[in-house]
Amino acid sequence: MSENRVYNFSAGPSMLPEPVLLKAQKELLNYNGSGMSVMEMSHRSKTYDEIICETESLTRKVLNIPDNYKILFLQGGASLQFAAVPINLMTKNRKADYIITGQFSKKAYQEARKYGDINVAASTESENYSRIPAQSELNLSPDADYVHICLNNTIYGTKWSYVPDTGAVPLVADMSSCILSEEVDVTGYGLIYAGAQKNMAPAGLTVVIVREDLIGSAPDSCPTVMDYKIMSEHGSMYNTPPTFAIYIFKLVLEWVVSIGGLNALNRINRRKAALLYDFIDKSRLFTNPVNKPDRSIMNVTFKTNSEELDALFVKQAAANGLVTLKGHRSVGGMRASIYNAMPVEGVMKLVEFMREFEAENA
Ligand SMILES: Cc1ncc(COP(=O)(O)O)c(C=O)c1O
Repeated sequence: MSENRVYNFSAGPSMLPEPVLLKAQKELLNYNGSGMSVMEMSHRSKTYDEIICETESLTRKVLNIPDNYKILFLQGGASLQFAAVPINLMTKNRKADYIITGQFSKKAYQEARKYGDINVAASTESENYSRIPAQSELNLSPDADYVHICLNNTIYGTKWSYVPDTGAVPLVADMSSCILSEEVDVTGYGLIYAGAQKNMAPAGLTVVIVREDLIGSAPDSCPTVMDYKIMSEHGSMYNTPPTFAIYIFKLVLEWVVSIGGLNALNRINRRKAALLYDFIDKSRLFTNPVNKPDRSIMNVTFKTNSEELDALFVKQAAANGLVTLKGHRSVGGMRASIYNAMPVEGVMKLVEFMREFEAENA
């Protein structure tokens, strides 16, 4: 990593791969001989059209997305999808099942309730969201228009270790904090959505991957830019798309390919997570509250036995170039978000620092 850069454990927006930043820097003033930055370029220009088409085809290639799925590049964050999903998909029986495993899936549920009859098929709220419910605990409705899950729970550091069986009912997943961290069988989902600001690009871009047959039944009252059919028919260019974020996403996808694809990245991600969890599990000072099989490899939460020590840890870590380690305000303690762009050395440095802190304070 370049001098003067820190290891940034932010949950999002978060680190981008350094080769991506350097390439963007190199191309910033004059993209590909155009004499201008991608930021300054018309989204209707031929040069930009090449960028967005290439980004789409790379997304399809890297995530192995079949032809009967559309890829949309939208704005509004994952939070806008909390509304767009029910508006577009809850159109047959006006019913959906939501599984609540954290604050974001709860927000998604609260938003969906504005549009139809929502059943909470399971919730682990009473257990502080420290685990993912088992298939046998899911109270699914056979006539739901879809089932919604959040695959990786950024705040609590949990991840679904299995894909729930929803029978013929389409499964919708918020993958904001785990997309591109491993291979996914896209065909197991009716719709996948993700805010870009963790593993894909800077904030401002939201990616939606949706099965063709689920598009096209939004009511007339659906805002035009939220209508999957219209956005898809216009190649995500009904209006101005988040042009620069899409360009950075393209560079990130090229970087993913250069590493060897999602399997190779997943091996690195597992190694990084194992370094942290193995240390925490043996530690005399740090603990992780998550049910082991449900541990996230993207967001690792941990605590000491006192809030004062937690605060001291965060402060001293920052002084050592390990920044943004404070846990989410609703959970406390610490959280290390170790997305794709976090180098293995960053995690090794963190573990080394935790070891020193433990020796001084346990
Ligand atoms: C899993 C998950 N879903 C949704 C959101 C909300 O995303 P946005 O801020 O893009 O609306 C976040 C943000 O951190 C998240 O981690």
